[in-house]
Amino acid sequence: MSATIIDGKAFAAGLRARIATGVTAFAAAAGRAPGLAVVLVGEDPASNVYVRSKGKATREAGMVSVEHRLPADVGAEALLALVADLNADPTIDGILVQLPLPKHIDEQAVIAAIDPDKDVDGFHPINAGRLATGSAGFVPCTPLGCVMLLKSVVPNLSGMEAVVVGRSNIVGKPMAQLLLRESCTVTVVHSRTRDVRAHVGAADIVVAAVGIPEMIKGDWLKPGATVIDVGINRTEAGLVGDVDFASAVGVAGAITPVPGGVGPMTIACLLRNTLVSAGRREG
Ligand code: GUN
Repeated sequence: MSATIIDGKAFAAGLRARIATGVTAFAAAAGRAPGLAVVLVGEDPASNVYVRSKGKATREAGMVSVEHRLPADVGAEALLALVADLNADPTIDGILVQLPLPKHIDEQAVIAAIDPDKDVDGFHPINAGRLATGSAGFVPCTPLGCVMLLKSVVPNLSGMEAVVVGRSNIVGKPMAQLLLRESCTVTVVHSRTRDVRAHVGAADIVVAAVGIPEMIKGDWLKPGATVIDVGINRTEAGLVGDVDFASAVGVAGAITPVPGGVGPMTIACLLRNTLVSAGRREG
């Protein structure tokens, strides 16, 4: 038996179409379109590509996209001053500072300077706290997209054994919180975990967000498990995930491909968070 391939590209396209409809309704009521500001510091090629595609998707959804590009040697004060201006700008509903930032800038200080109610990345400690305590805030886009894909194949996650591989602030930790909110029994495994394979083998749901190409093999998985692969690893063989797709596809019940799985959901969820922010701010 071969796994169901979860088509993130198609799911994201549907979500973006629904968001575009929501944007039209918002604009008719508020007299303006939602606005998303994206800040890029430096010339990192991968970040450049991400920022360009975020701007394009924002415009395609009918929103206003504002891009600020600052040189790699910009001082922290200038960046913080820009964030303060965007916080005060009533036409801006979402602020995203593309990470990573150059080493001389304290990333956590910049994230903390963003108005939590415009923090559409969901990285502000207040939003992390809101997620952990179950109150309304912003949920980081990649884990939010993962849960949507997961629920498209397993609508009721209650009581399931879920393993998250990786403990980053951007994916692993918020992913664990979201799965807990869905009443899963959640295990987070990481580089110091003694037997990663044993944990993965016991899981109904595996979310891989570790950044190691094809680390998780098909024979690690429980037959029928749902596998969400967040990895985007550039190798000589091309783009691959954290899961060895070729061996996993014969064991899993459902699996996301790379590319075309989780990746397209991240931008769609960013647009969703921006529309939600606009609605809350005007509402
Ligand atoms: N760098 C890689 N992914 C992300 C993201 O989702 N948001 C931001 N701000 N930076 C990133």
